[in-house]
Amino acid sequence: MKTICPLVGLDHLEFYVGNAKQAAYFYEQQFGFAPIAFRGLETGYRKAASYLLQQGHIQFVLSSGLGDDNTISEMLARHGDGVAVIAFTVTDVRQVYQTLLQHGATAAIPPTSIDTEAGQWRFAAIHGYGDVLFKFVERRHGIFAPGFVPYSETIPSRRETGLFEIDHVVGNVELGAMDRWVNFFIQALGFELLAHFDDKTIVTEYSALMSKVVQDPTGKIKLPINEPAPGQRQSQIDEYLQFNNGPGVQHIALATRDIIHTVRRLKAAGVAFLKTPLTYYDSLEARVGKIKEPIDELAELGILVDRDARGYLLQIFTQPVEDRPTLFFEIIERHGATSFGEGNFKALFEAIEREQARRGNLEPVGRMA
Ligand code: FE2
Repeated sequence: MKTICPLVGLDHLEFYVGNAKQAAYFYEQQFGFAPIAFRGLETGYRKAASYLLQQGHIQFVLSSGLGDDNTISEMLARHGDGVAVIAFTVTDVRQVYQTLLQHGATAAIPPTSIDTEAGQWRFAAIHGYGDVLFKFVERRHGIFAPGFVPYSETIPSRRETGLFEIDHVVGNVELGAMDRWVNFFIQALGFELLAHFDDKTIVTEYSALMSKVVQDPTGKIKLPINEPAPGQRQSQIDEYLQFNNGPGVQHIALATRDIIHTVRRLKAAGVAFLKTPLTYYDSLEARVGKIKEPIDELAELGILVDRDARGYLLQIFTQPVEDRPTLFFEIIERHGATSFGEGNFKALFEAIEREQARRGNLEPVGRMA
């Protein structure tokens, strides 16, 4: 019998960062997010300072610990800045939580109700891959979450960049864990297996990975999960797992309706992207057919193109946004295509490996510590 998916959509991603005030400035100035709400000492909350940033339907929360003994600080020491919580909007927190526990989930936050004059919230969480929490949120009225107040500080001028929703969130897990998580999403939440790539499909000279994509039945929530496959040298997934000290969110794909505009804005604001060799564009039209965008502009910006049976997509990847080679972003514009740019994997992974080599992390496997 087919399970009905109880998730309505992605609600927000929460990042634990060393300095939320400065990280908020980075996402405002480089990616065009607007600060909407705040919770911290000034609002009577003494555990953490959190900024809610918004752009289109995208909601990011940036949180820093305020004490030296709290969870956030411990997580930061282990993983560096990165995504700590993937939050889904649901219509019945209690029911989702019970279902997940019946399917073997590990409890993190039991169903909690907070009703005040400021709002009504229900939430619960389970442990996801690595130290990432999967949180489930029901917001009946009121601002984002308990304790948050509208952000009132003056902000320096910001330029919108056209990003409007989260397209997919990718997790890197340890060897052997991919199928466990894929089956969990399918069995507990009624997700579907959308795509599957093994180390025969995704292979460069040096590294290989395996990837499966699960999505909810409406296609709104897409969660690819990668695990390393044995390669001749340390794969990009191994590098991530080493520097993140375990599994976690590898990249977040943000959707735009005009990737040329978005990428121009991001580059002007200082966002660093992976470079695409000009030879990639030589026979582009022969490979992907007619597209609307001028190829010379795509080549100038390094934007990749791929086509599947339903249409085409344009995509580009940033450099890691942390000192550790862990989290990065993808900017994506879909024209009917529902895939993830498989035709670009080889060119993309070669670009990633050039960067890995610059970091001294593309040693033969036997020589890695
Ligand atoms: Fe992606």
